[in-house]
Amino acid sequence: MEDLVVVGGGVIGLSCAWRAAQAGRHVTLRDPAPASGSSWVAGGMLAPVTEAWPGEEGLLELGLESLELWPAFAEELSAAAGQPAGLHPEGTVVAATGSGDRAELDALAGHLARLGRPVERLSGRELRRLEPGLGPDVRGGLSVPGDLSVDNRALLAALRAAAEKAGVVMEERAWEPGETAPGTVLICAGAHSAALHPGLAGLVRPVKGEILRLTHRHGAFPVPTRTVRALVDGRPVYLVPRPGGLVVGATQSEHGFDTEPTVGGVRDLLRDAERILPGIAEYALAEAAAGLRPGSPDNVPVVGRLDGRTLVATGHSRNGILLAPLTARLVVGLLGGGAVPAAVDPARFGRTGT
Ligand code: GLY
Repeated sequence: MEDLVVVGGGVIGLSCAWRAAQAGRHVTLRDPAPASGSSWVAGGMLAPVTEAWPGEEGLLELGLESLELWPAFAEELSAAAGQPAGLHPEGTVVAATGSGDRAELDALAGHLARLGRPVERLSGRELRRLEPGLGPDVRGGLSVPGDLSVDNRALLAALRAAAEKAGVVMEERAWEPGETAPGTVLICAGAHSAALHPGLAGLVRPVKGEILRLTHRHGAFPVPTRTVRALVDGRPVYLVPRPGGLVVGATQSEHGFDTEPTVGGVRDLLRDAERILPGIAEYALAEAAAGLRPGSPDNVPVVGRLDGRTLVATGHSRNGILLAPLTARLVVGLLGGGAVPAAVDPARFGRTGT
């Protein structure tokens, strides 16, 4: 049995470790604090369509491919772990407030229609019929039933349990730059990956996101069924349902490795979220946290071979949870001697590739 060391115990590292162990590798996962970084902080949207931006059509295709894998991935994971993987099968609505926000959603809907992915446009009243908690400032929007979500913390617990049951050895200590191991090393250290291999220097950067967790309180307006995304005077906000509450996210800024939530970030998220779902004023503010998205130059993941002994799976930017099943599949293919699509290969940046 060949050895694999997976460096990083977030959603990507855990998914790859689990799948590689299932494929017959002897896997060790190295992380001083597994499942505690940006995967723990994340909102957990599986939302390639409502995260789509013109110019990122390749990323949309990857996201749609991974979304298709999600139901079977979650079912298999729940069975292997003996605990729920946290998949929430309800879709997403997108709400706009001012006329500029509605124009932007119209542009997104037009872009998706041109790509052959039409979405349903709804009035404010039609949106409130779907999600009665939406406030009067919501003037229109979209319904995207295929964009789902997952409880990221349930997912991480299930991945860890399934990985351990499949034989993955968890070593809670850091992997130092320059360290080597027998067999293959797979770097999945998210925003921290760049320091771990010269071929990643300057390729992956931390993109801070502040996020809140709200808990439903007795008598408060019920938690929405679907993910609610919104534009509020040009600012994006999302509210993702969880059992007994909501995740509200997320700011986006680049301040190095800063993971402190700020007063301004929390204020902006609460102000915008309350414009969309006024009932959250009665919820409890349970947690404010910040995570570091691993940003890549083109927002597309970096998955492939860096040298004869080293593979990488990082740079998932805003879409790590969504892209976990596809990434694990690509990594297992690489371990079996296969290639990855050129769109994700580090070779696209002139770095060593497959
Ligand atoms: N995928 C949502 C975020 O990165 O905030």
